[in-house]
Amino acid sequence: MSYSDAEPISTPPDGRTDRPQPRWRRDFPIDWPQDEYVSRRDFTKFVVLTSLAFTVGQFWILLQNSWRRGQKALPIVAIVPVDALAIGESQVFTYPTEGDPCILVRLGEDSFVAYDRLCTHLLCPVLPKPEHGQLHCPCHEGYFDLSTGRPIAGPPQRPLARITLEIRSGTVYATGKTLSTS
Ligand code: FES
Repeated sequence: MSYSDAEPISTPPDGRTDRPQPRWRRDFPIDWPQDEYVSRRDFTKFVVLTSLAFTVGQFWILLQNSWRRGQKALPIVAIVPVDALAIGESQVFTYPTEGDPCILVRLGEDSFVAYDRLCTHLLCPVLPKPEHGQLHCPCHEGYFDLSTGRPIAGPPQRPLARITLEIRSGTVYATGKTLSTS
């Protein structure tokens, strides 16, 4: 940049003209108002792009949700014969695919619950503690309510996905998966 540029350089902070300014100011004649103008423009660009990214993200989530709702039903898979588990015992299984570890716990005579086995914090496998009515994640001392899957202590904030169950002819079947904890 030279002093003869068409765009005028603003007055230096000390109010003196360009000539008596120190060498460093003449070598780097920053036009502060112009500089602020660019910053404001960059900031506006940043705000617009951030808002756009946020809006696109929201649409993506909506799209995923409607896509999931439109998905075909999950398979019905036999887990274990009712008699094979005593009250308080548990069984690890996979559902709906071989890569989805789950855990089934028998709570009572005709009462079973099953959840995704991976902790909603950082995906460690949870362990049933039926004597305390909890599922325990030993990685960071996370706890979930055994009867609902809701987080009750430690880092996890989201409930475990629940596997819906049916008992047919003396066998416990997995019939679907839901995030509902009721
Ligand atoms: S992974 Fe379960 S509490 Fe951190």
